[in-house]
Amino acid sequence: MNIFVIGSGGREHAICSTFSKSKRVSKIYCAQGNAGIAEIAECVPIASDDIRALSVFASASDIDLTFVGGETSLALGIVDEFQSRGLRIVGPTKAAAYLESSKAFAKDFMVRHNIPTARYLTSVSTESAIRELDSGALGDASHPIVVKADGLAAGKGVVLAENRVKAIQAINEMSSLVGTAAADVIVLEECLVGREISLLAFCDGENFALMPPTRDHKRIGEGDTGPNTGGMGTITDDSLLSAEQTDEIIETVIAPTLRGCADEGFPFRGILFLGLMMTADGPRVLEYNVRFGDPETQSILVRLETDLVDICEAMINGTLSDMEIRWKPGASATVVLAAEGYPGSPRKGDVINGLDEATKLDGVTVFHAGTSIGANNDLVTAGGRVLGVTAIGDNISHALERAYKAIGLINWAGMQYRRDIGK
Ligand code: AMP
Ligand code: GLY
Repeated sequence: MNIFVIGSGGREHAICSTFSKSKRVSKIYCAQGNAGIAEIAECVPIASDDIRALSVFASASDIDLTFVGGETSLALGIVDEFQSRGLRIVGPTKAAAYLESSKAFAKDFMVRHNIPTARYLTSVSTESAIRELDSGALGDASHPIVVKADGLAAGKGVVLAENRVKAIQAINEMSSLVGTAAADVIVLEECLVGREISLLAFCDGENFALMPPTRDHKRIGEGDTGPNTGGMGTITDDSLLSAEQTDEIIETVIAPTLRGCADEGFPFRGILFLGLMMTADGPRVLEYNVRFGDPETQSILVRLETDLVDICEAMINGTLSDMEIRWKPGASATVVLAAEGYPGSPRKGDVINGLDEATKLDGVTVFHAGTSIGANNDLVTAGGRVLGVTAIGDNISHALERAYKAIGLINWAGMQYRRDIGK
C-alpha cells in the first residue's frame, strides 16, 4: 500500500515512522518532510496549503491512503478535495474542521450541544470587543480575561490578560499579533482555573477510541514562564485521568460532540483533540483541534501497538467499534530540543551532534522536526523546534529518565530545552 503523509514536523515524522512499521505499507511519500522523514519516506516538495497540487500528486502516484498532519490543509478542505477525486484520506471535512478553524464557531457549537466550556462573548470589531468587555458579563475589571483570535494563529492567537487594562491592550494588539484575517472576530472568555489535559480520540463519524491522556508544556521557559510555543514537551500517563474523570469527559464532551457533528450534517471522521481544563466543577473544553498535536503525537504513537493503517481504514469505513486498539502499558515522554532564538526567529544551519548515540539507547526514539542536510552532508538545524526526544518507560519517571539521558548525548550551538517536562 502507498501512503501519503502531509506535513513536515515532528508530528509527521512520528506518523511516517508508525506507518513504516506496518506490514501493509510498501511505500511512504511525505509533503514536504524533513531530514528524518527522508530516511523512511520519499519527500515531495508540495506545500501543505496547495491542496490541488497535493491531490493531483496523490492521483498520479497511486496513493492508497493519505493522512493529514496539520490544520492548515484541513481548514482549506483537503479532505473534500481528495474525496471529490475518489481518493481515500483520513481527516475531517472542511465543515467539521471549523471546530478548530473558528473559535467562535466552536464556542457556539458547544452551547448548542450543552458541552461544558468557559463563558464567552464574541465580537466582530475591536470597539465592540471593548464594549463587550465592559458589559461585565465575564466579571468586573479586576478579573482575568482570555482574549482569543477567532481564526487559525499557530498558537499565537490566545492572550491570558490579568485584568481589564491588559485585556484592552490584547484586543488592540490582536490583529498585528496574528495577522488581520484570523483576528477579524475576537472571542473573550472567562479565565478557568484547574489542571490542563489533552485527550485525543480516533473518530469514525459515530464511534471513537481514546488515546492515552497527555499533557503539553506550552511555554518556552521552565516553571511555565516566558512566551508560548507550539509545545516544548509532552507526556502520556494513564494516571493523568481517573476512570471517573474519563467517563465524565466521554459523557459530557465526546459523545455530545460526535452527536452534534452528525446532527448538523458534518459527521466527524479523523482525530479529535480536546484541550481540557479540569476545574473544581468538572471538565471544561478550552479548545477543539481536529488533528494530531505536535508534540503530543510523538508521545502517543510510540505506545501504539495496533497497525495504524487498520485504524485509518476503520475511521474511514465507520468500523472503529469493531476493533480493539492496543497500547503499550506504562508511560512516555517527549522533550523538544529547540534552536537558539525560538520561539522568535530561530537560528538555522547549526550542526547537530550525537544523534546516532542517542537513538541507540533503550526505549528512545528521536523524531526530527526542523532539520535538514547541510552543505557538508551534516545534519543541521532548519527550524525552531528541531528534535523531539521521545522515550517509553514503565512509568513516567522511567520514561523521563531515558529521554533526558538521550538528550545528554545530543548537542548543537544554542540548543535549548526544558528540564522540567513531566515534573
Ligand atoms: P487554546 O488555543 O484555546 O487552547 O488556548 C491556548 C492556551 O491558553 C490553553 O492551552 C490554556 O493554557 C490557555 N487558555 C485558553 N482558554 C483559557 C481559559 N478560558 N481559561 C484559562 N486558560 C485558557
Ligand atoms: N501541542 C499543541 C498542538 O499541537 O496544538
